[in-house]
Amino acid sequence: MTLALRWHVLLISFLLGTSAAFAADNPTPSTHATQLAQRPGRAGIASANALATEAGFEVLAKGGNAFDAAVAVASTLSVVEPESSGIGGGFMATMHIAAGNRDVFIDARETAPAGVNAKDYLNADGSPNRDTSLKGPLSAGIPGEPAGLAWLAKHYGKVPLTVSLAPAIRTARDGFKPDSRLLGAIQEEQKNLQRWPASAAKYLPNGKVPTDGEIWRDPEQARTLELLAQYGQSGFYSGETAQKLVDAVQAAGGHWTLKDLSSYRVKERAPITVDYHGYKVITAPPPSSGGVAIAEILNILSGFDLSKLDEVHRVHLVIESMRRAFRDHNDYLGDPDFVKMPLDMLLSPYYADGLRQTILPDKATPSSMLAPSNGVDPGMHTTHFSIIDADGNMVAITSTVNYVLGSTFVAKDTGVLLNDEMDDFALVPNKPNVYGLLGSKANAPEPGKRMLSSMSPSIVIGPDRTAVIGSPGGSTIITQVLEGILAFIDGGDAHQVVAYKRFHHQYMPDVVSVEPGAFDAATSEALTRMGYTLKDREPWGFMNVVIWDRRTNKLDAASDPRRPDGLGKVQ
Ligand code: GLY
Repeated sequence: MTLALRWHVLLISFLLGTSAAFAADNPTPSTHATQLAQRPGRAGIASANALATEAGFEVLAKGGNAFDAAVAVASTLSVVEPESSGIGGGFMATMHIAAGNRDVFIDARETAPAGVNAKDYLNADGSPNRDTSLKGPLSAGIPGEPAGLAWLAKHYGKVPLTVSLAPAIRTARDGFKPDSRLLGAIQEEQKNLQRWPASAAKYLPNGKVPTDGEIWRDPEQARTLELLAQYGQSGFYSGETAQKLVDAVQAAGGHWTLKDLSSYRVKERAPITVDYHGYKVITAPPPSSGGVAIAEILNILSGFDLSKLDEVHRVHLVIESMRRAFRDHNDYLGDPDFVKMPLDMLLSPYYADGLRQTILPDKATPSSMLAPSNGVDPGMHTTHFSIIDADGNMVAITSTVNYVLGSTFVAKDTGVLLNDEMDDFALVPNKPNVYGLLGSKANAPEPGKRMLSSMSPSIVIGPDRTAVIGSPGGSTIITQVLEGILAFIDGGDAHQVVAYKRFHHQYMPDVVSVEPGAFDAATSEALTRMGYTLKDREPWGFMNVVIWDRRTNKLDAASDPRRPDGLGKVQ
Protein backbone atom coordinates (compact mmCIF):
# COMPACT_ATOMS: atom_id res chain seq x y z
CA MET A 1 0.00 0.00 0.00
CA THR A 2 1.42 3.42 -0.82
CA LEU A 3 1.65 5.88 2.02
CA ALA A 4 -1.18 7.92 0.50
CA LEU A 5 -3.40 4.86 0.22
CA ARG A 6 -2.65 3.86 3.80
CA TRP A 7 -3.70 7.28 5.08
CA HIS A 8 -6.84 6.99 2.99
CA VAL A 9 -7.64 3.69 4.72
CA LEU A 10 -6.96 5.22 8.13
CA LEU A 11 -9.22 8.14 7.32
CA ILE A 12 -12.08 5.84 6.28
CA SER A 13 -11.66 4.00 9.56
CA PHE A 14 -11.76 7.12 11.68
CA LEU A 15 -14.66 8.66 9.78
CA LEU A 16 -16.82 5.58 10.09
CA GLY A 17 -16.00 4.93 13.74
CA THR A 18 -14.57 1.82 15.36
CA SER A 19 -15.89 -1.54 16.47
CA ALA A 20 -15.91 -3.20 19.86
CA ALA A 21 -13.51 -5.93 18.70
CA PHE A 22 -10.98 -4.85 21.31
CA ALA A 23 -11.93 -4.48 24.95
CA ALA A 24 -10.03 -2.52 27.59
CA ASP A 25 -7.64 -4.25 30.00
CA ASN A 26 -10.34 -6.04 31.96
CA PRO A 27 -11.36 -9.66 31.49
CA THR A 28 -14.64 -9.80 29.63
CA PRO A 29 -17.69 -12.04 30.05
CA SER A 30 -18.13 -14.42 27.14
CA THR A 31 -21.14 -13.67 24.99
CA HIS A 32 -21.73 -17.36 24.30
CA ALA A 33 -24.13 -18.34 27.06
CA THR A 34 -24.25 -21.88 25.63
CA GLN A 35 -21.01 -22.49 27.48
CA LEU A 36 -22.76 -22.24 30.83
CA ALA A 37 -25.42 -24.80 30.15
CA GLN A 38 -23.06 -27.66 29.38
CA ARG A 39 -20.04 -29.52 30.68
CA PRO A 40 -18.13 -32.11 28.61
CA GLY A 41 -17.85 -34.60 31.48
CA ARG A 42 -14.44 -35.74 30.20
CA ALA A 43 -11.16 -33.94 29.57
CA GLY A 44 -9.00 -33.50 26.48
CA ILE A 45 -5.32 -32.56 26.43
CA ALA A 46 -3.03 -32.20 23.41
CA SER A 47 0.65 -31.35 23.79
CA ALA A 48 3.94 -31.88 21.97
CA ASN A 49 5.11 -34.64 24.32
CA ALA A 50 3.26 -37.70 25.64
CA LEU A 51 4.86 -37.37 29.11
CA ALA A 52 3.51 -33.82 29.38
CA THR A 53 0.00 -34.81 28.27
CA GLU A 54 0.01 -37.66 30.83
CA ALA A 55 1.27 -35.25 33.53
CA GLY A 56 -1.81 -33.13 32.87
CA PHE A 57 -4.15 -36.13 33.30
CA GLU A 58 -2.29 -37.16 36.47
CA VAL A 59 -3.05 -33.80 38.06
CA LEU A 60 -6.69 -33.87 36.88
CA ALA A 61 -7.01 -37.25 38.62
CA LYS A 62 -5.70 -35.64 41.82
CA GLY A 63 -8.58 -33.12 41.82
CA GLY A 64 -7.03 -30.45 39.64
CA ASN A 65 -8.81 -28.51 36.90
CA ALA A 66 -7.63 -27.42 33.42
CA PHE A 67 -5.45 -24.69 34.90
CA ASP A 68 -3.69 -27.08 37.30
CA ALA A 69 -3.23 -29.48 34.39
CA ALA A 70 -1.71 -26.59 32.43
CA VAL A 71 0.86 -26.10 35.21
CA ALA A 72 1.70 -29.82 35.04
CA VAL A 73 1.98 -29.85 31.22
CA ALA A 74 4.08 -26.66 30.99
CA SER A 75 6.50 -27.69 33.76
CA THR A 76 6.91 -31.18 32.30
CA LEU A 77 7.64 -29.66 28.88
CA SER A 78 10.34 -27.58 30.61
CA VAL A 79 12.03 -30.89 31.46
CA VAL A 80 11.34 -33.05 28.38
CA GLU A 81 11.14 -30.41 25.61
CA PRO A 82 13.65 -27.73 26.74
CA GLU A 83 14.53 -26.91 23.15
CA SER A 84 11.13 -25.21 22.87
CA SER A 85 10.00 -23.87 26.24
CA GLY A 86 10.76 -23.91 29.94
CA ILE A 87 11.00 -22.13 33.26
CA GLY A 88 13.78 -19.97 31.83
CA GLY A 89 11.28 -18.59 29.29
CA GLY A 90 7.75 -17.23 29.17
CA PHE A 91 4.22 -18.05 28.02
CA MET A 92 0.90 -16.59 27.00
CA ALA A 93 -2.43 -18.18 27.88
CA THR A 94 -5.92 -17.61 26.51
CA MET A 95 -8.42 -19.11 28.93
CA HIS A 96 -12.14 -19.64 29.40
CA ILE A 97 -13.30 -20.00 32.98
CA ALA A 98 -16.52 -22.03 32.98
CA ALA A 99 -17.75 -20.77 36.35
CA GLY A 100 -18.62 -17.16 35.60
CA ASN A 101 -18.34 -17.68 31.85
CA ARG A 102 -15.25 -15.46 31.61
CA ASP A 103 -12.45 -15.21 29.06
CA VAL A 104 -9.05 -14.06 30.31
CA PHE A 105 -5.56 -13.69 28.93
CA ILE A 106 -2.44 -14.30 31.03
CA ASP A 107 0.74 -12.55 29.91
CA ALA A 108 3.78 -14.27 31.43
CA ARG A 109 6.10 -12.87 28.76
CA GLU A 110 9.72 -12.06 29.59
CA THR A 111 10.86 -8.47 30.28
CA ALA A 112 14.06 -6.63 29.45
CA PRO A 113 16.34 -6.16 32.48
CA ALA A 114 16.79 -2.59 33.78
CA GLY A 115 20.39 -2.63 32.55
CA VAL A 116 19.41 -3.33 28.92
CA ASN A 117 21.74 -1.50 26.54
CA ALA A 118 20.88 -1.44 22.85
CA LYS A 119 24.59 -1.14 22.00
CA ASP A 120 25.16 -4.69 23.30
CA TYR A 121 23.28 -5.95 20.23
CA LEU A 122 25.23 -3.99 17.59
CA ASN A 123 28.45 -4.77 15.79
CA ALA A 124 31.03 -1.99 15.44
CA ASP A 125 29.56 -1.08 12.02
CA GLY A 126 26.04 -0.69 13.47
CA SER A 127 24.72 -3.93 12.01
CA PRO A 128 22.77 -6.35 14.28
CA ASN A 129 24.96 -8.66 16.38
CA ARG A 130 23.02 -11.92 16.23
CA ASP A 131 25.39 -13.65 18.62
CA THR A 132 24.60 -11.38 21.58
CA SER A 133 20.87 -11.28 20.76
CA LEU A 134 20.55 -15.05 20.34
CA LYS A 135 23.23 -16.70 22.50
CA GLY A 136 24.43 -16.26 26.07
CA PRO A 137 23.09 -14.21 28.97
CA LEU A 138 22.70 -10.89 27.10
CA SER A 139 20.08 -12.54 24.90
CA ALA A 140 17.88 -13.52 27.87
CA GLY A 141 14.88 -11.59 29.16
CA ILE A 142 13.71 -11.95 32.78
CA PRO A 143 11.71 -15.21 32.73
CA GLY A 144 7.93 -15.07 33.06
CA GLU A 145 7.03 -18.77 33.08
CA PRO A 146 7.61 -19.57 36.79
CA ALA A 147 5.53 -16.51 37.83
CA GLY A 148 2.86 -17.49 35.29
CA LEU A 149 2.62 -21.04 36.66
CA ALA A 150 2.34 -19.70 40.23
CA TRP A 151 -0.34 -17.25 39.04
CA LEU A 152 -2.38 -20.01 37.38
CA ALA A 153 -2.24 -22.14 40.54
CA LYS A 154 -3.07 -19.26 42.88
CA HIS A 155 -5.88 -17.59 40.94
CA TYR A 156 -7.45 -20.36 38.85
CA GLY A 157 -6.31 -23.76 40.12
CA LYS A 158 -7.79 -26.12 42.68
CA VAL A 159 -4.64 -27.89 43.91
CA PRO A 160 -1.35 -26.46 45.27
CA LEU A 161 1.83 -26.21 43.20
CA THR A 162 3.26 -29.09 45.24
CA VAL A 163 0.68 -31.28 43.46
CA SER A 164 0.72 -29.70 39.99
CA LEU A 165 4.53 -29.51 39.76
CA ALA A 166 5.04 -33.03 41.14
CA PRO A 167 5.09 -34.86 37.76
CA ALA A 168 7.76 -32.49 36.37
CA ILE A 169 9.90 -32.78 39.50
CA ARG A 170 9.64 -36.59 39.38
CA THR A 171 10.49 -36.71 35.67
CA ALA A 172 13.50 -34.42 36.16
CA ARG A 173 14.75 -36.40 39.14
CA ASP A 174 14.07 -39.97 37.94
CA GLY A 175 14.95 -39.25 34.32
CA PHE A 176 13.41 -39.92 30.92
CA LYS A 177 14.46 -40.91 27.42
CA PRO A 178 14.96 -37.73 25.34
CA ASP A 179 13.13 -37.82 22.01
CA SER A 180 14.91 -37.50 18.68
CA ARG A 181 14.03 -33.83 18.38
CA LEU A 182 15.73 -32.92 21.67
CA LEU A 183 18.78 -35.02 20.74
CA GLY A 184 18.86 -33.27 17.35
CA ALA A 185 18.66 -29.84 19.03
CA ILE A 186 21.56 -30.68 21.36
CA GLN A 187 23.56 -31.90 18.36
CA GLU A 188 22.73 -28.72 16.41
CA GLU A 189 23.70 -26.42 19.30
CA GLN A 190 26.64 -28.48 20.59
CA LYS A 191 29.22 -25.75 19.84
CA ASN A 192 27.20 -23.07 21.63
CA LEU A 193 26.49 -25.31 24.62
CA GLN A 194 30.23 -25.89 24.95
CA ARG A 195 30.76 -22.14 25.45
CA TRP A 196 29.26 -22.25 28.97
CA PRO A 197 30.33 -24.92 31.52
CA ALA A 198 26.87 -25.31 33.13
CA SER A 199 25.27 -25.73 29.69
CA ALA A 200 27.81 -28.37 28.68
CA ALA A 201 27.43 -30.14 32.03
CA LYS A 202 23.64 -30.34 31.59
CA TYR A 203 23.28 -31.16 27.90
CA LEU A 204 26.57 -32.86 27.09
CA PRO A 205 27.09 -35.31 29.96
CA ASN A 206 30.52 -36.97 29.62
CA GLY A 207 31.27 -34.36 26.99
CA LYS A 208 28.94 -35.73 24.31
CA VAL A 209 25.37 -35.66 23.04
CA PRO A 210 23.24 -38.22 24.95
CA THR A 211 22.58 -41.33 22.89
CA ASP A 212 19.14 -42.49 21.78
CA GLY A 213 17.47 -44.52 24.53
CA GLU A 214 19.76 -43.25 27.30
CA ILE A 215 18.01 -42.16 30.52
CA TRP A 216 18.68 -38.48 31.12
CA ARG A 217 18.24 -36.74 34.47
CA ASP A 218 17.93 -33.06 35.37
CA PRO A 219 18.34 -32.94 39.19
CA GLU A 220 19.17 -29.21 39.33
CA GLN A 221 15.96 -28.25 37.55
CA ALA A 222 14.11 -30.66 39.90
CA ARG A 223 15.48 -28.68 42.89
CA THR A 224 14.54 -25.33 41.30
CA LEU A 225 11.00 -26.62 40.63
CA GLU A 226 10.76 -27.84 44.23
CA LEU A 227 11.52 -24.35 45.54
CA LEU A 228 8.86 -22.95 43.19
CA ALA A 229 6.39 -25.58 44.44
CA GLN A 230 7.17 -24.77 48.07
CA TYR A 231 7.25 -20.95 47.97
CA GLY A 232 5.35 -19.98 44.83
CA GLN A 233 6.64 -17.03 42.78
CA SER A 234 9.15 -15.97 45.47
CA GLY A 235 10.70 -19.44 45.33
CA PHE A 236 12.16 -18.47 41.94
CA TYR A 237 12.29 -14.65 41.92
CA SER A 238 13.96 -14.16 45.32
CA GLY A 239 16.11 -16.21 47.69
CA GLU A 240 18.44 -19.01 46.62
CA THR A 241 17.31 -19.41 42.99
CA ALA A 242 17.29 -15.68 42.23
CA GLN A 243 20.78 -15.21 43.70
CA LYS A 244 22.16 -18.11 41.64
CA LEU A 245 20.55 -16.79 38.45
CA VAL A 246 21.92 -13.28 38.94
CA ASP A 247 25.40 -14.54 39.88
CA ALA A 248 25.56 -16.78 36.82
CA VAL A 249 24.28 -14.11 34.40
CA GLN A 250 26.60 -11.39 35.73
CA ALA A 251 29.64 -13.68 35.76
CA ALA A 252 29.06 -14.33 32.04
CA GLY A 253 28.61 -10.65 31.11
CA GLY A 254 24.84 -10.14 31.46
CA HIS A 255 23.03 -7.33 33.30
CA TRP A 256 20.39 -9.05 35.47
CA THR A 257 19.93 -7.85 39.05
CA LEU A 258 17.94 -9.22 42.00
CA LYS A 259 15.56 -6.26 41.54
CA ASP A 260 14.84 -7.28 37.93
CA LEU A 261 13.68 -10.64 39.23
CA SER A 262 11.79 -9.47 42.32
CA SER A 263 9.91 -6.83 40.32
CA TYR A 264 8.69 -9.26 37.63
CA ARG A 265 4.87 -9.28 37.45
CA VAL A 266 2.39 -11.41 35.51
CA LYS A 267 -0.11 -9.27 33.61
CA GLU A 268 -3.73 -10.25 33.19
CA ARG A 269 -5.16 -8.64 30.08
CA ALA A 270 -8.40 -8.65 28.13
CA PRO A 271 -8.09 -11.02 25.17
CA ILE A 272 -8.86 -9.81 21.67
CA THR A 273 -12.16 -11.09 20.37
CA VAL A 274 -13.35 -11.08 16.79
CA ASP A 275 -16.55 -12.38 15.23
CA TYR A 276 -16.13 -14.21 11.95
CA HIS A 277 -19.19 -15.62 10.16
CA GLY A 278 -20.87 -16.57 13.47
CA TYR A 279 -17.69 -17.83 15.19
CA LYS A 280 -16.21 -15.96 18.14
CA VAL A 281 -12.41 -16.07 18.10
CA ILE A 282 -10.78 -15.27 21.46
CA THR A 283 -7.07 -14.66 21.05
CA ALA A 284 -3.89 -12.97 22.24
CA PRO A 285 -3.60 -9.17 22.67
CA PRO A 286 -0.30 -7.23 22.68
CA PRO A 287 2.46 -7.79 23.63
CA SER A 288 1.63 -10.50 21.13
CA SER A 289 1.11 -9.34 17.59
CA GLY A 290 -0.68 -12.62 16.88
CA GLY A 291 -4.23 -11.76 17.93
CA VAL A 292 -4.19 -8.35 16.24
CA ALA A 293 -2.96 -9.93 13.00
CA ILE A 294 -5.44 -12.83 13.15
CA ALA A 295 -8.32 -10.41 13.86
CA GLU A 296 -7.23 -8.10 11.03
CA ILE A 297 -6.99 -11.02 8.59
CA LEU A 298 -10.38 -12.43 9.64
CA ASN A 299 -11.96 -8.97 9.38
CA ILE A 300 -10.65 -8.62 5.82
CA LEU A 301 -11.76 -12.17 4.91
CA SER A 302 -15.19 -11.71 6.46
CA GLY A 303 -16.16 -9.69 3.37
CA PHE A 304 -15.88 -12.86 1.28
CA ASP A 305 -17.57 -16.25 1.33
CA LEU A 306 -14.42 -18.37 1.02
CA SER A 307 -16.47 -21.56 0.71
CA LYS A 308 -17.84 -20.35 -2.63
CA LEU A 309 -14.43 -19.63 -4.14
CA ASP A 310 -12.12 -21.92 -6.07
CA GLU A 311 -8.84 -22.92 -4.35
CA VAL A 312 -6.71 -20.39 -6.24
CA HIS A 313 -8.84 -17.38 -5.35
CA ARG A 314 -9.33 -18.55 -1.79
CA VAL A 315 -5.55 -18.83 -1.30
CA HIS A 316 -5.03 -15.49 -3.10
CA LEU A 317 -7.35 -13.67 -0.67
CA VAL A 318 -5.83 -15.33 2.39
CA ILE A 319 -2.28 -14.40 1.28
CA GLU A 320 -3.25 -10.80 0.52
CA SER A 321 -4.91 -10.51 3.94
CA MET A 322 -1.79 -11.93 5.63
CA ARG A 323 0.41 -9.47 3.71
CA ARG A 324 -1.61 -6.47 4.91
CA ALA A 325 -1.83 -7.60 8.53
CA PHE A 326 1.93 -8.24 8.78
CA ARG A 327 2.61 -4.79 7.39
CA ASP A 328 0.71 -3.25 10.31
CA HIS A 329 2.47 -5.62 12.72
CA ASN A 330 5.80 -4.12 11.67
CA ASP A 331 4.65 -0.54 12.03
CA TYR A 332 2.62 -0.30 15.18
CA LEU A 333 2.89 -3.09 17.72
CA GLY A 334 4.81 -3.38 21.00
CA ASP A 335 4.29 -3.72 24.76
CA PRO A 336 0.95 -2.05 25.66
CA ASP A 337 2.45 -0.88 28.97
CA PHE A 338 4.98 1.20 27.00
CA VAL A 339 3.47 2.18 23.65
CA LYS A 340 0.17 3.57 22.48
CA MET A 341 -1.14 1.45 19.64
CA PRO A 342 -4.04 2.27 17.31
CA LEU A 343 -5.82 -0.99 18.20
CA ASP A 344 -9.30 0.42 17.75
CA MET A 345 -8.33 1.24 14.19
CA LEU A 346 -6.44 -2.01 13.44
CA LEU A 347 -9.32 -4.13 14.75
CA SER A 348 -12.09 -2.10 13.17
CA PRO A 349 -14.16 -3.80 10.47
CA TYR A 350 -14.20 -0.45 8.66
CA TYR A 351 -10.41 -0.43 8.52
CA ALA A 352 -10.60 -3.97 7.14
CA ASP A 353 -13.15 -2.78 4.57
CA GLY A 354 -10.59 -0.25 3.36
CA LEU A 355 -7.82 -2.83 3.16
CA ARG A 356 -10.12 -5.26 1.32
CA GLN A 357 -10.65 -2.61 -1.40
CA THR A 358 -6.92 -2.60 -2.08
CA ILE A 359 -6.83 -6.33 -3.00
CA LEU A 360 -6.74 -6.86 -6.75
CA PRO A 361 -9.13 -9.63 -7.82
CA ASP A 362 -6.68 -11.69 -9.91
CA LYS A 363 -3.23 -10.35 -9.11
CA ALA A 364 -0.75 -10.35 -6.25
CA THR A 365 0.01 -6.93 -4.71
CA PRO A 366 3.81 -6.69 -4.61
CA SER A 367 4.97 -5.90 -1.07
CA SER A 368 7.45 -3.50 -2.68
CA MET A 369 4.44 -1.23 -3.27
CA LEU A 370 4.27 -0.99 0.53
CA ALA A 371 7.89 -0.63 1.79
CA PRO A 372 11.28 -2.31 1.26
CA SER A 373 12.85 -4.92 3.54
CA ASN A 374 14.07 -8.52 3.68
CA GLY A 375 14.04 -11.50 5.99
CA VAL A 376 14.88 -15.13 6.67
CA ASP A 377 12.97 -18.34 7.19
CA PRO A 378 11.75 -18.96 10.71
CA GLY A 379 12.51 -22.12 12.67
CA MET A 380 10.05 -24.21 14.66
CA HIS A 381 10.88 -23.63 18.31
CA THR A 382 8.30 -22.79 20.96
CA THR A 383 5.51 -25.14 21.97
CA HIS A 384 1.73 -25.05 22.27
CA PHE A 385 -0.75 -27.15 24.24
CA SER A 386 -4.53 -27.15 24.56
CA ILE A 387 -6.78 -28.37 27.38
CA ILE A 388 -10.52 -28.66 28.02
CA ASP A 389 -11.53 -30.16 31.37
CA ALA A 390 -14.68 -32.02 32.40
CA ASP A 391 -16.30 -28.79 33.64
CA GLY A 392 -15.71 -26.91 30.40
CA ASN A 393 -12.71 -24.86 31.58
CA MET A 394 -10.39 -24.23 28.64
CA VAL A 395 -6.80 -23.17 28.31
CA ALA A 396 -4.63 -22.55 25.27
CA ILE A 397 -0.98 -21.96 26.19
CA THR A 398 1.89 -21.11 23.87
CA SER A 399 5.20 -21.17 25.69
CA THR A 400 8.71 -20.41 24.51
CA VAL A 401 12.41 -19.94 25.17
CA ASN A 402 12.54 -18.47 21.63
CA TYR A 403 15.10 -20.11 19.33
CA VAL A 404 16.25 -23.74 19.61
CA LEU A 405 17.46 -24.30 23.21
CA GLY A 406 16.97 -20.56 23.84
CA SER A 407 20.19 -18.74 24.68
CA THR A 408 21.94 -22.14 25.17
CA PHE A 409 23.02 -20.61 28.49
CA VAL A 410 22.25 -22.61 31.64
CA ALA A 411 22.60 -20.71 34.92
CA LYS A 412 25.03 -22.64 37.14
CA ASP A 413 23.48 -24.77 39.92
CA THR A 414 19.86 -24.04 38.86
CA GLY A 415 19.29 -26.28 35.82
CA VAL A 416 17.52 -23.25 34.28
CA LEU A 417 18.12 -22.84 30.55
CA LEU A 418 17.63 -19.15 29.78
CA ASN A 419 15.60 -17.85 26.86
CA ASP A 420 16.96 -15.70 24.01
CA GLU A 421 13.85 -13.58 23.77
CA MET A 422 15.77 -10.26 23.51
CA ASP A 423 16.00 -10.99 19.76
CA ASP A 424 12.21 -10.51 19.59
CA PHE A 425 12.76 -6.79 20.20
CA ALA A 426 13.40 -4.60 17.17
CA LEU A 427 17.04 -4.23 18.24
CA VAL A 428 17.84 -2.32 15.08
CA PRO A 429 14.78 -0.55 13.58
CA ASN A 430 13.68 -2.07 10.29
CA LYS A 431 16.32 -4.80 10.31
CA PRO A 432 14.78 -8.27 10.43
CA ASN A 433 15.08 -10.44 13.53
CA VAL A 434 15.77 -14.19 13.38
CA TYR A 435 12.23 -14.74 12.04
CA GLY A 436 12.64 -12.10 9.33
CA LEU A 437 10.24 -9.83 11.20
CA LEU A 438 10.71 -6.10 11.03
CA GLY A 439 9.95 -3.70 13.82
CA SER A 440 9.88 -0.05 14.65
CA LYS A 441 10.35 2.11 17.74
CA ALA A 442 7.17 0.60 19.21
CA ASN A 443 9.15 -2.61 19.79
CA ALA A 444 12.51 -1.09 20.71
CA PRO A 445 14.11 -2.49 23.89
CA GLU A 446 13.56 -0.53 27.12
CA PRO A 447 14.05 -1.46 30.79
CA GLY A 448 11.18 -3.63 32.03
CA LYS A 449 9.50 -3.77 28.61
CA ARG A 450 8.03 -6.94 27.12
CA MET A 451 9.29 -7.86 23.65
CA LEU A 452 6.69 -8.36 20.92
CA SER A 453 5.63 -11.96 20.36
CA SER A 454 3.80 -13.88 17.66
CA MET A 455 2.27 -16.33 20.14
CA SER A 456 -1.42 -16.77 19.38
CA PRO A 457 -3.10 -19.17 21.83
CA SER A 458 -6.76 -19.08 20.81
CA ILE A 459 -10.23 -20.36 21.66
CA VAL A 460 -12.87 -20.44 18.91
CA ILE A 461 -16.53 -20.72 19.88
CA GLY A 462 -18.93 -21.55 17.07
CA PRO A 463 -22.65 -22.21 17.04
CA ASP A 464 -22.14 -25.93 17.80
CA ARG A 465 -18.43 -26.57 18.35
CA THR A 466 -15.57 -25.07 20.32
CA ALA A 467 -11.84 -25.35 19.55
CA VAL A 468 -8.80 -24.68 21.73
CA ILE A 469 -5.93 -24.14 19.32
CA GLY A 470 -2.38 -22.85 18.88
CA SER A 471 0.99 -23.59 17.31
CA PRO A 472 4.69 -22.85 17.61
CA GLY A 473 6.59 -21.53 14.59
CA GLY A 474 8.05 -18.04 15.10
CA SER A 475 6.33 -15.61 12.78
CA THR A 476 4.43 -18.50 11.14
CA ILE A 477 2.55 -19.05 14.42
CA ILE A 478 0.10 -16.38 13.31
CA THR A 479 -0.64 -17.80 9.89
CA GLN A 480 -0.65 -21.43 11.02
CA VAL A 481 -3.17 -20.66 13.77
CA LEU A 482 -5.24 -18.65 11.29
CA GLU A 483 -5.29 -21.59 8.85
CA GLY A 484 -6.17 -23.95 11.71
CA ILE A 485 -9.08 -21.70 12.66
CA LEU A 486 -10.30 -21.61 9.04
CA ALA A 487 -10.00 -25.43 8.83
CA PHE A 488 -12.06 -25.76 12.03
CA ILE A 489 -14.70 -23.35 10.73
CA ASP A 490 -14.80 -25.40 7.50
CA GLY A 491 -15.88 -28.36 9.68
CA GLY A 492 -12.54 -30.09 10.27
CA ASP A 493 -12.16 -32.38 13.28
CA ALA A 494 -9.10 -32.08 15.55
CA HIS A 495 -7.06 -34.56 13.48
CA GLN A 496 -7.91 -32.80 10.20
CA VAL A 497 -7.16 -29.35 11.65
CA VAL A 498 -3.66 -30.31 12.85
CA ALA A 499 -2.86 -32.21 9.62
CA TYR A 500 -3.97 -29.48 7.19
CA LYS A 501 -1.07 -28.43 4.90
CA ARG A 502 -0.03 -24.83 5.41
CA PHE A 503 1.31 -21.73 3.70
CA HIS A 504 2.60 -18.41 4.99
CA HIS A 505 3.19 -14.84 3.86
CA GLN A 506 4.55 -12.13 6.17
CA TYR A 507 4.68 -9.09 3.90
CA MET A 508 8.48 -9.19 3.71
CA PRO A 509 10.17 -11.16 2.25
CA ASP A 510 7.58 -11.07 -0.55
CA VAL A 511 7.46 -14.85 -0.84
CA VAL A 512 4.75 -17.42 -0.09
CA SER A 513 6.32 -20.17 2.04
CA VAL A 514 4.55 -23.41 1.16
CA GLU A 515 4.46 -26.77 2.89
CA PRO A 516 5.16 -29.40 0.22
CA GLY A 517 1.82 -30.80 -0.91
CA ALA A 518 -0.24 -27.77 0.19
CA PHE A 519 -1.05 -26.83 -3.43
CA ASP A 520 -1.51 -29.09 -6.44
CA ALA A 521 0.41 -28.30 -9.64
CA ALA A 522 -2.49 -26.39 -11.24
CA THR A 523 -2.97 -24.18 -8.16
CA SER A 524 0.78 -23.47 -7.93
CA GLU A 525 0.88 -22.53 -11.63
CA ALA A 526 -2.16 -20.26 -11.34
CA LEU A 527 -0.74 -18.51 -8.25
CA THR A 528 2.62 -18.03 -10.01
CA ARG A 529 0.82 -16.48 -13.01
CA MET A 530 -0.93 -14.08 -10.59
CA GLY A 531 2.50 -12.82 -9.50
CA TYR A 532 3.29 -14.94 -6.43
CA THR A 533 6.73 -16.36 -5.71
CA LEU A 534 6.17 -19.75 -4.08
CA LYS A 535 8.92 -21.36 -2.04
CA ASP A 536 8.78 -24.81 -0.44
CA ARG A 537 9.66 -24.74 3.24
CA GLU A 538 10.00 -27.22 6.11
CA PRO A 539 9.36 -27.72 8.98
CA TRP A 540 5.82 -26.73 10.01
CA GLY A 541 3.74 -27.28 13.13
CA PHE A 542 3.46 -28.55 15.78
CA MET A 543 -0.15 -27.69 16.38
CA ASN A 544 -2.07 -29.19 19.32
CA VAL A 545 -5.85 -28.91 19.30
CA VAL A 546 -8.82 -29.96 21.44
CA ILE A 547 -12.31 -29.67 19.94
CA TRP A 548 -15.58 -29.94 21.87
CA ASP A 549 -18.62 -30.82 19.76
CA ARG A 550 -21.39 -29.40 21.95
CA ARG A 551 -24.17 -31.10 19.90
CA THR A 552 -22.90 -34.58 20.72
CA ASN A 553 -20.94 -33.49 23.83
CA LYS A 554 -17.85 -35.27 22.43
CA LEU A 555 -14.25 -34.17 22.88
CA ASP A 556 -11.57 -34.74 20.27
CA ALA A 557 -7.86 -34.05 20.94
CA ALA A 558 -5.08 -34.22 18.37
CA SER A 559 -1.36 -33.57 18.26
CA ASP A 560 0.32 -32.61 15.02
CA PRO A 561 1.15 -35.67 12.87
CA ARG A 562 4.35 -33.94 11.79
CA ARG A 563 5.71 -34.92 15.20
CA PRO A 564 5.55 -38.48 16.53
CA ASP A 565 6.27 -37.55 20.18
CA GLY A 566 3.11 -35.49 20.72
CA LEU A 567 -0.09 -36.84 22.25
CA GLY A 568 -3.71 -35.75 22.01
CA LYS A 569 -5.90 -37.73 24.38
CA VAL A 570 -9.40 -37.69 25.84
CA GLN A 571 -10.36 -39.44 29.07
N1 GLY B 1 9.83 -16.05 20.57
C1 GLY B 1 8.84 -16.22 19.60
C2 GLY B 1 7.63 -15.42 19.86
O1 GLY B 1 7.33 -15.10 20.99
O2 GLY B 1 6.95 -15.07 18.94
